[in-house]
Amino acid sequence: MKNLLKMSDLSPAELTHILDVADQLKAQQKLGGTAPLLAGKTVALMFSKASTRTRTSFEVGVYQLGGLGNYMNTAELQAGRGEPLKDTARVLGRYYDCVVWRTYRQSDLEEFAELAGVPVINGLTDYAHPCQVLADLMTIRERRGSLAGRKLCFVGDGSSMANSLIVGGLLAGMQVTCVCPQSYRPAADVLMFAHKYGSAFHLTADPAEGIQDADVVATAVWNTAKPGTPESEQRLRDFVGFQLTGKLLESAKPDVMVLHCLPAHRGEEISSAVFEQHAPEIFDEAENRLHVQKAVLAILLAGK
Ligand code: CP
Repeated sequence: MKNLLKMSDLSPAELTHILDVADQLKAQQKLGGTAPLLAGKTVALMFSKASTRTRTSFEVGVYQLGGLGNYMNTAELQAGRGEPLKDTARVLGRYYDCVVWRTYRQSDLEEFAELAGVPVINGLTDYAHPCQVLADLMTIRERRGSLAGRKLCFVGDGSSMANSLIVGGLLAGMQVTCVCPQSYRPAADVLMFAHKYGSAFHLTADPAEGIQDADVVATAVWNTAKPGTPESEQRLRDFVGFQLTGKLLESAKPDVMVLHCLPAHRGEEISSAVFEQHAPEIFDEAENRLHVQKAVLAILLAGK
């Protein structure tokens, strides 16, 4: 593992190893702290979009591992005034041991990783959110004891979270269903990857059908457009019936887990009642961003 750019970069064994290291680091942190595995190491935390969890969990995680994490907003770098990202990559690669980047296009991230010469971690692109999905899988395994054979259903927009959960869930041996409106399907290459898993993957536009007997139901914001704009109004129409409500979840397993990567739009992708009922697992999921990202850093930079 040289970078973490998307879930399909990982083998099933690498995925399991990340989760195992994350469990160890979490247990050590609860007992007082982890070894300074990143002592003397520097991590650039570069953000081209807003973030609460990704930014702060990486800042705290690098600190807990004894390294130096520097947050930078790309709008405040020379990149924000037109310096090519290719040059930014070649400069930061000379100063830092690792770069975490949240940006828009996956192709920009992939090009950056080729040029930086140091490990690069995807902090979210329009295509993938591997750190979030690793935290989701860690949370499911922690609460249920295993992943293989369990039914994971994602309901929402077939974008970064859907793409990464489909691949991550299948790599972990889960049965994965993706429920999204016809015009919001996951990326074509993700569907090609998923179809290799035969009946372990199912794509549908019918939330009630998709959720049937699910062990875990995950969702994410689907009204990503600015409120009041024509795009936002269109999304509200397109996603009618895609809200996780108590009624919709009746067809899932009685002890279903509900995950939400946050931030949540209550009353859109999830009802307030369902969110509060499942808040314990949702905030475990948020906490596990910290532990699983520490594991990724420890593997990439300290050979764990
Ligand atoms: N889930 C997630 O990535 O949260 P942030 O946007 O706050 O980083």
